Amino acid sequence: MTIDKQGASLQRILENMHTSVLLLDSALRLRFINPAGEMLFALSAQRFIGQPVDNVLFDRDATLALQQVLQTGSPFTERELVLNLGYRDKVTVDLTAIPLYDGGGGETELLVEMKQVDRQLRITREEGLLAQSHATRALVRGLAHEIKNPLGGLRGAAQLLERELHNEELKEYTHIIISEADRLHALMNRMLGPNALPHKRQINIHQAVERVRQVVGAEISQGISLVRDYDPSIPDVYADLDQLIQALMNLVRNAVQALGDEGEITLRTRALRQYTIGTVLHKLVARVDVIDNGPGIAPDMRENLFLPMVTGRVEGTGLGLPIAQSLVNANGGLIEWESRPGQTVFTVLLPIELKRENLQEAQA
Ligand SMILES: Nc1ncnc2c1ncn2[C@@H]1O[C@H](COP(=O)(O)OP(=O)(O)OP(=O)(O)O)[C@@H](O)[C@H]1O
Ligand SMILES: [Mg+2]
Repeated sequence: MTIDKQGASLQRILENMHTSVLLLDSALRLRFINPAGEMLFALSAQRFIGQPVDNVLFDRDATLALQQVLQTGSPFTERELVLNLGYRDKVTVDLTAIPLYDGGGGETELLVEMKQVDRQLRITREEGLLAQSHATRALVRGLAHEIKNPLGGLRGAAQLLERELHNEELKEYTHIIISEADRLHALMNRMLGPNALPHKRQINIHQAVERVRQVVGAEISQGISLVRDYDPSIPDVYADLDQLIQALMNLVRNAVQALGDEGEITLRTRALRQYTIGTVLHKLVARVDVIDNGPGIAPDMRENLFLPMVTGRVEGTGLGLPIAQSLVNANGGLIEWESRPGQTVFTVLLPIELKRENLQEAQA
């Protein structure tokens, strides 16, 4: 192969790779970026060639790590590195940086490869959430069955006994048995969550969001503001309105409780194109975010947030999130979350089943 031909094939390879490839000079200025890199950072090579890598990565720590590679000459690899980008929050990549020495003793360049792993991580995590939700429901269902039957017998026997008792003082004991049995029965029912099948119909997601906003708006203290950030053009979802309201209500109430006396809750709606929920790819997905600027989810709760009875509040029963998750699952969707001090986001994702007329709109 001639040098020209070889160069052309190398060019073609770089252009068609899924991995982002950047070449930096010894002052960490961008010398080359392949199309996958342009896509990842949403920039055009023409404009960015010659610019400092800071203008591309917007991430001081990553730049420092690259400088270190140049200084020490040792390659650098980091898995699941979270880069802060200028145009959107962040992206997770596996990054490798290798110093390239010019044999003639000229300037050292840096070859940086990045593979975006967000999507893969998200899918794995969502599969985990769904599996956990299914396992929990199966466990609770079994447990509730085993408890509710003897509980019914216990309650009936206490009632019969009460009829035979003529001493009011002794009746107090049977009252306790009956009311505690009722409390346990109600708890079991709450843990089981909704057992009715969803009554699905085409609904505008904002019907649910607005209802929740109105109800919660009337309950909250003056220091808490409820902000609307809606995309009114989202096509209808095929879902059970009451179940969505209940699920969103649980999320918004949690946000209110996390804020205490003051703070801000934002209700944000968006449509996402070509989005996977769990492992299923949907053409269009409706997304509702409940965002609060409270303290964030306590680190020790994160692993088991959606398990029943997991609560960080003295008066909490820890059922709000598992119930919300199972309601949204029953409507084909999923609840995701992300939290750091000052910003907690619970996201309801619901597939939009496109009817023919909606499909045309969505494609337009
Ligand atoms: N927006 C949030 N900010 C901070 N922590 C939260 C938030 N949402 C939920 N949590 C934490 O998750 C826990 C579990 O929430 P969940 O709704 O399942 O139960 P609960 O609110 O404690 O009780 P219940 O909803 O049954 O009354 C909460 O106790 C709280 O510690
Ligand atoms: Mg709750």
